[in-house]
Amino acid sequence: MYEISTDIEERAILVGVKLPGSKEHQIQESLDELASLADTAGAAVVGSFVQNRQYIDSATFIGKGKVEELAEYCQETDANMVINDRELSPAQARNLEERLGVKVIDRTQLILDIFARRAQTKEGKLQVELAQLKYLLPRLIGLGTQLSRLGGGIGTRGPGETKLEVDRRRIRKRISDLEQELKEVQRHRSLLRKNRTNEPFPVISLVGYTNAGKSTLLRTLTGADVLVEDKLFATLDPTTRCISLPNNDKVLISDTVGFIQNLPHHLVAAFRATLEEVQEADLLLHVVDASHPNYEGQTRAVEAVLQSLHVLDKPIITVFNKVDLVKDMQELPFTEDPRVYISAANNLGIKQLLDTITTVLKQRYSVLKLTVPYDKTNLVAILHQKGKVLQEKYISQGIEIEVEINNVWAARVQKQL
Ligand code: GTP
Repeated sequence: MYEISTDIEERAILVGVKLPGSKEHQIQESLDELASLADTAGAAVVGSFVQNRQYIDSATFIGKGKVEELAEYCQETDANMVINDRELSPAQARNLEERLGVKVIDRTQLILDIFARRAQTKEGKLQVELAQLKYLLPRLIGLGTQLSRLGGGIGTRGPGETKLEVDRRRIRKRISDLEQELKEVQRHRSLLRKNRTNEPFPVISLVGYTNAGKSTLLRTLTGADVLVEDKLFATLDPTTRCISLPNNDKVLISDTVGFIQNLPHHLVAAFRATLEEVQEADLLLHVVDASHPNYEGQTRAVEAVLQSLHVLDKPIITVFNKVDLVKDMQELPFTEDPRVYISAANNLGIKQLLDTITTVLKQRYSVLKLTVPYDKTNLVAILHQKGKVLQEKYISQGIEIEVEINNVWAARVQKQL
């Protein structure tokens, strides 16, 4: 029974398994990412441990002999926690805890812990609590009264924290209440969004690997007080701001949660709120930390998520950030998409970025010349509201208008003529 209180330093050992077919560097990258996640959650990483195996041991994940070795390693390093890179079954986690004598959590729990502490909006909090409870439910089965062992530390914090003490039946009830409440919040949000779809302003989404500098960029662009931290997942809930482009056109720009390489699939679903924003954007700014040694892998990870959201057909500007830390700019790759090089923290390249946004958005607009009959003057009002009227003349057949307008609205208006 381990009761690690939040004020006791959490000293973690990371554990990975290399199965046949997986590559050495992939395991290493995954463990590096896990180390950053642990750091974000406030644990000190005191060691890591990789085992080559033919298959996963159903009882202890790593081999039995290795469990002994890991137990010794925990003692040597004074670790009080083991973080497994892949998801553990409830039995594996329990068996490992018993044999190692320290708390054992996995990647999913670690990410949930981080999300739990970052969630700010009502929906974010509900989603995190729901994901936490769904994760915990099968793990509580058979534990009976021992639930109190979960008290405190990474993997147990957050909106669901106090509720971990309740029994399974009450957790099930809570899950169904949360699902109900979420539905209500989502219905409300989709109404709000519908109003926004009617906005004449284009919507831009900032996407990128976690820690790439999205919040910093949003802040530089807007002067908005968005939470910026050198920690993973500083952003959880969508934050939207309105900015003016150099030609005075207004755009809405929103930040999204950072992507990571090995985000368990069921957690991606839990953050639909952010991802839905991406699906509705007119333009994506893919922020890349150009100073990161593995920025190419990170870029691919983001693209894979974008592909799964079916948004790769939207215009994308690749924004190479942190160029102040890049020694050799020649090494940065050529991309098909428009790209800019900036330092969000040092206000470098921002004008060029704004110009590129203006150019790319312009491509979505055309100039139309129409004659609107006098019995359809409601359309003239729409053209004024949604577009930029360049010329307007009253002639005998109606109102002759030259307007620069978004292609979607152009098609809608033309259909009604
Ligand atoms: P998540 O919310 O975790 O997805 O992160 P994010 O992409 O929003 O990153 P954030 O803006 O929080 O920045 C992460 C870290 O990078 C912070 O410490 C920033 O100060 C730093 N950073 C951002 N832009 C730059 C830059 O241009 N140069 C340098 N040197 N650091 C930067």
